[in-house]
Amino acid sequence: MVKFDDDRLQVLPFVGYKRNRKGGQRWFHLYDKERISHTDELFWMGINQNWNYMCADCHTTDFKKNFSIAENKFHSSWTESRVSCESCHGPASGHMQWAEKKDLSVLMKGFGISLAAKPVNWQLDAAKQTLMPQQVMTNDTLIETCARCHARATRFTDEYDHGNSFLQSHIPATADPVNYHVDGQIKEEDYEYASFLQSKMHTAGVTCINCHEPHSMKIKATGNALCTSCHQPAKYDGPQHSFHKPTSTGNQCVTCHMPITTYMVVDNRLDHSIRIPRPDHSLTMGTPNACNKCHTDKPVKWVADSFVKWYGNKLPKEKTYAELLYAVSKYIKESEPSLYDLLQNKSNPAIIRATAMGNYGYYTTSRVNEILLNELKSTAPNIRLNALKALRNYPAENLLGHVEALLYDKVAAVRMEAMNMLAPLSAKLSEKDMEQFRKVMSEYMIVQEEMSHRPEGYFNRAILFSATGGNEVAENLYKDCIRRFPDFVPAYSNLADLYRQQGREDEIKRLIDMGLRRQPQSAYLHYSSGLWYIRQKENSKGMAELKLAAQYAPADAQMQYGYAIGLFSGGEQVKALQLLEDFAAKYGNQPLILDGIISMSQDMKQTEKSTQYAAIRKGVFGY
Ligand code: HEC
Ligand code: HEC
Ligand code: HEC
Ligand code: HEC
Ligand code: HEC
Ligand code: HEC
Ligand code: HEC
Repeated sequence: MVKFDDDRLQVLPFVGYKRNRKGGQRWFHLYDKERISHTDELFWMGINQNWNYMCADCHTTDFKKNFSIAENKFHSSWTESRVSCESCHGPASGHMQWAEKKDLSVLMKGFGISLAAKPVNWQLDAAKQTLMPQQVMTNDTLIETCARCHARATRFTDEYDHGNSFLQSHIPATADPVNYHVDGQIKEEDYEYASFLQSKMHTAGVTCINCHEPHSMKIKATGNALCTSCHQPAKYDGPQHSFHKPTSTGNQCVTCHMPITTYMVVDNRLDHSIRIPRPDHSLTMGTPNACNKCHTDKPVKWVADSFVKWYGNKLPKEKTYAELLYAVSKYIKESEPSLYDLLQNKSNPAIIRATAMGNYGYYTTSRVNEILLNELKSTAPNIRLNALKALRNYPAENLLGHVEALLYDKVAAVRMEAMNMLAPLSAKLSEKDMEQFRKVMSEYMIVQEEMSHRPEGYFNRAILFSATGGNEVAENLYKDCIRRFPDFVPAYSNLADLYRQQGREDEIKRLIDMGLRRQPQSAYLHYSSGLWYIRQKENSKGMAELKLAAQYAPADAQMQYGYAIGLFSGGEQVKALQLLEDFAAKYGNQPLILDGIISMSQDMKQTEKSTQYAAIRKGVFGY
């Protein structure tokens, strides 16, 4: 790492991998031959390679990033340069006193919280041939303690509250379709938490320390013995279950149930969702499967055929959450019913329901709405948080009367989300709620100021100011953001919107050109530029820009729609309609695209087509 004048540490891409295992004892480059330019977000001097924010909290003890916005400088502090006792147990002075006196009457050996597994009676379930806990005793304190470092999450404050909800200081990622495969399997660098929460084992009350020694972190037994300590070997260990020879790697539990993905060239991680391998899903959904991780030389179909032959009659009859998630992601007739199924069936893991809400809440039927409103009262903070996110898709007025209560939520991440949602409606709040709104708003502003080593720190404050009528402050914050982080495109776009509301056309053009000099391939900037030219009645220049926007973001409905509308009004109707139809065929029936196709084909008197797409829209979105 390299230390800079402002005390930040930046992580170089050269890695000295010292471990004595395969691939160890050598140097390598994290991005291999990929060229990372200085405007790339992965560039080593950039904000995403900043140790103080991106790494340290998980790799030290009691880390405080202590960013001073006034000095634009870190004053970070930590007590040990590794994960030590207090990382998990919290302040340990009470424990030290206990250790000196060995006073057995002191609870929890002097620690403030207990990480001990709750006492559980394991009993053999005869049908399953599995030891099941007599009573489910999930220990959220334990798993959330691990989650602080073993979850993909955004940490938003230096105050870490041992033993309290993880969402007091972090916003965890769901099994979202950017970082995970559509069925919840690991894709981008995964930290075990969001995976393990998906598993039946977590639902049944198994925790991390049933498999890992809590201090060495080594697994408690090697090979299949780890798993057969609960799953009886007579049923599970051997060809009767795996259809592979007992000595084959294909008979190891983890190779089928916890397949490996390698990150950062050398780092193998096992999928902790501990799921049933489904090569048949690979055929229908394009998801990866454990079998083909070994049988790399065989087509999926080959694997799937033997799979169905071996296991076909044992697979669940009703749709799994993986199949439902897939259907919801597709903009098809089955999407809304699948979403409804995912949400209303509480036996689906909470993380999956949170994922469905947070990422697929755009099917806004009244029965889904009803569930979401109920979930605002859930005891699980992550469900409340994601129910709020889904409700963002509803007309703002629908929120009043429901979201205010969450301004008072005891968990910080939840009340801040509620505050942000209510910001455009704050004039309609009661006096009492308004007072609470202001409290949460100032709490949020502090969080964002402390985050101002990143563009989001400025950007998020600007959005909130502009939503609550503080346009002048917002403008200055966007400008500060651009000055400090000239490659952050959203700040240009938002500031351009603000200028547009105020009719400041000349300034828009200057702003966009400035952004395009930094990010010449930004679709959004070309898009704004195109609209600007069209407002100035310079249509051919405008169209050239909209075309570039569409080229640079082929999967973005808004960019394609904008270009198609431009073509359409310029007389190229057939081409415009074709563009949208091609998009729908490739990326699914997104509402904006369907709207475009329907109105264009109506204008072109292609009644059959407009009726056909109207029927699709009705089937998918119910209107
Ligand atoms: C969310 C917490 C978290 C963050 C943030 C994080 N790490 Fe890690 N890191 C871990 C965990 C957990 C492991 C161990 C995982 C494993 O063994 O596969 C790990 C493993 C590593 C290892 C391998 C250690 C070894 O002994 O093999 C290196 C090196 C590393 N991280 C560097 C970094 C750097 C550099 C950053 C910032 C760019 C970073 N980490 C950010 C949690 C984190
Ligand atoms: C990675 C997290 C982690 C770290 C780091 C860690 N512990 Fe623990 N510790 C645990 C967990 C989890 C348990 C509960 C184990 C159980 O119930 O079997 C535990 C249990 C204990 C207990 C027994 C507590 C009781 O209530 O019975 C003591 C004492 C303890 N740890 C001391 C330490 C000390 C001292 C260190 C530093 C040298 C340390 N721990 C580091 C996770 C951790
Ligand atoms: C403060 C951050 C932090 C906390 C809290 C934490 N870990 Fe880790 N864990 C790490 C890091 C970092 C590594 C990588 C090895 C290292 O640098 O110590 C790691 C490594 C591991 C490993 C892999 C060890 C190996 O040999 O590859 C396991 C398993 C693990 N942790 C489990 C847990 C469990 C279970 C808990 C909760 C009881 C927990 N950790 C809590 C940061 C943390
Ligand atoms: C501490 C006991 C325990 C250990 C150790 C254990 N399991 Fe489990 N496992 C369970 C319980 C309990 C269930 C839930 C059974 C149920 O609800 O039907 C389960 C369920 C499963 C399932 C069913 C998943 C599904 O979606 O249907 C698989 C697969 C599984 N375990 C694999 C493993 C593997 C692989 C290991 C070793 C890495 C392992 N288990 C270790 C207790 C354990
Ligand atoms: C070749 C791949 C493969 C291997 C190896 C494998 N399994 Fe499985 N396992 C499956 C498949 C496929 C299913 C779903 C069909 C079934 O229930 O038999 C399954 C189901 C399970 C279930 C859920 C059973 C139920 O009735 O819900 C458990 C528990 C399980 N396996 C545990 C293990 C354990 C423990 C091992 C190692 C001793 C192991 N598996 C090895 C493929 C494998
Ligand atoms: C059913 C058993 C089981 C449970 C429960 C479990 N793990 Fe693991 N974990 C494993 C196995 C097996 C490995 C591979 C270890 C090896 O090969 O040395 C592993 C590996 C890891 C690693 C190394 C990197 C990786 O992802 O493979 C980390 C970190 C880890 N576990 C953290 C956790 C955390 C945190 C939890 C609880 C949220 C947890 N584990 C729950 C079985 C389990
Ligand atoms: C860890 C690697 C591994 C995994 C995972 C694995 N296999 Fe295998 N498979 C093997 C090996 C090695 C053999 C060689 C013969 C043996 O061991 O039975 C084999 C043999 C086979 C054969 C027989 C091939 C022949 O020519 O006769 C079939 C069919 C097969 N596997 C299907 C599957 C399916 C389906 C899955 C997933 C449910 C799977 N395998 C998972 C390694 C694996």
